[in-house]
Amino acid sequence: MCGIIGLTCIPGSTPDRPSLMVYRGLLRLEYRGYDSAGVASVSAESSRVVVLKGRGRIAELEGKYGFSKVDGFTIVAHTRWATHGAPIDVNAHPHTDCGTKIAVVHNGIIQNYRELRRELTSRGHIFVSETDTEVVPHLVEELYGKRRDIYSAFKKAVEVLEGSYAIALISVVEPDKIFFARKDSPLIIGLGNGFNFVASDIPAFLEYSRRAVVLRDYEVGYITPVSAFIEDLRESRPVDYTHRVRFIEWSIEDASKGGYAHFMIKEILEQPRALKNTLQGIEGDDGFRKAVDLLLNANRIYVTAAGTSYHAALYYSLLMQRLAGAQVVPFIASEHYSYEGVVSEGDLLIAVSQSGETIDSLVALRAFRERGAKVIALSNVIDSAIPRESHLALYTRAGPEIGVAATKTFTTQALALAWLAVSYALAVGRLTVSEAEGIRGELRSSPRLVSEIMPLIEDRARRLSEWLSARSSAYYLSRGVGLPVAMEGALKLKEIAYVHAEAYPAGESKHGPIALVSSGFPAVFVVPVDNYLEKLLLGNVQEMKARSAVTIGVAPLGTSLEDQLDYLLPVPRAHWALTPLTHTLPLQLIAYYTAVARGFDPDKPRNLAKTVTVE
Ligand code: F6R
Repeated sequence: MCGIIGLTCIPGSTPDRPSLMVYRGLLRLEYRGYDSAGVASVSAESSRVVVLKGRGRIAELEGKYGFSKVDGFTIVAHTRWATHGAPIDVNAHPHTDCGTKIAVVHNGIIQNYRELRRELTSRGHIFVSETDTEVVPHLVEELYGKRRDIYSAFKKAVEVLEGSYAIALISVVEPDKIFFARKDSPLIIGLGNGFNFVASDIPAFLEYSRRAVVLRDYEVGYITPVSAFIEDLRESRPVDYTHRVRFIEWSIEDASKGGYAHFMIKEILEQPRALKNTLQGIEGDDGFRKAVDLLLNANRIYVTAAGTSYHAALYYSLLMQRLAGAQVVPFIASEHYSYEGVVSEGDLLIAVSQSGETIDSLVALRAFRERGAKVIALSNVIDSAIPRESHLALYTRAGPEIGVAATKTFTTQALALAWLAVSYALAVGRLTVSEAEGIRGELRSSPRLVSEIMPLIEDRARRLSEWLSARSSAYYLSRGVGLPVAMEGALKLKEIAYVHAEAYPAGESKHGPIALVSSGFPAVFVVPVDNYLEKLLLGNVQEMKARSAVTIGVAPLGTSLEDQLDYLLPVPRAHWALTPLTHTLPLQLIAYYTAVARGFDPDKPRNLAKTVTVE
């Protein structure tokens, strides 16, 4: 998805050359996925904005245009992921007005751009790109012509936009300001001394600023090198944001590769620390107790999310069923309309989203709120839209996740949701104090358990991936709480290694999917520590072997399936409820090594974006 970084500064006040600071920010946005990039700048002497942009990787464009050397003290830059208009030079951002006095970068989609473009064209504006974004500079140009006040023209323009947007605009009229607006797409101010940033992601400015204000929907305003002004577009009144300034605890190392070949492997290996920090957060936060109260008072409980977070949501519902005898309805966020008809006051929705900005989950949350349901959010990003729009916000503390594929955020979500399920089961009397403490004790030891996995499996996972890299399809099979883990394993393989993978409950094979199995077909089994499930899975493994499939098991040390499996990726023994914590890392690793063996960059999977802000 697109990324924005903008900086305005007093000459001589910045630790590095302003254009270099923006360039470094741009590089930190690469992980969001993009096809083109560009930079625009102005300074007090400018009579036109300078724009450099094109299709390609940032490093290539730097070689061609010298992004990091552009003059000026007010600069905006962008990484584009094509939505409206092909990924070609002319469609890259920034976009300008007819007079090249205004430059705009934008994330999101302007739904009424066709009407606006028609109208503006009829008034003589000349458009050069196919993008929705280009209407913004022309609209501001048009309104500025009438008002002679650039901020009021900008505000008026934003008022007529429909859709989602994070916008940053610079102009020769007030060259020390970056004007911004946000609706349904993240935008954050980073505060410095003698300079200020606006960006779509915190890591973009983290090297230079740790003080951030997360903007809210309908907020517009501007930054100067020494101040920020924010107002609510709907109420037309300034917003006092001083209490919203947050100190960002993430370190710049968290947001850097730190010697690893890819962010993904670094983040896979960071899981013990991410789990430890999340545990500290859970135990020091009253939120989990409050969440149990909300759950106890709920009529019906739903849990929603997208992608990997949905797998954590599904795990939570299975856990609530088995540990607490409670029914929790899991649904994929983009399918929310199928559930709305039955929602009423007294119901509760848990919305799980690492970024806290996924539009599908946000729309589901809003629909449930409108019908009177209470909402609990579980997110990894403080103050992001989903926690902000919920009645109660719970957080994982995985640190920033830069790799597009979710890894450490999944296991930390599983940990937080397991904690919540155990606390609920204890509150309703389905677990005794000692049973609940037993599982909590194991959850507390999850950082150690996860740190033991890598040495057990690294070589095997590497060898297996070499073999897998030449296959075209695989099944991921399990039962019970192992199923969401199998689903997560299949998603990882498909999204970063581009090997087709399908997960389903192992008992389903005989109802159809086994027809596809022939000699050498990979069947990956996720075997929870559970005698009953292990016995059932043994039958499923044999079924696959009888068709000469290659059977691979992620299974606890000493499993009875050992003789049947062609490959074993052993994991430490722990309570079955910890399955996502103990069994996921091997699957992440297989996907990672397979992607690398196939020559793909696991950090930048094709067609994918880290935060999906389009429905
Ligand atoms: C897969 C992945 C995506 C996200 C999904 C939801 O590796 O990262 O499937 O899990 O887009 O994102 P969040 O959790 O930010 O709502």
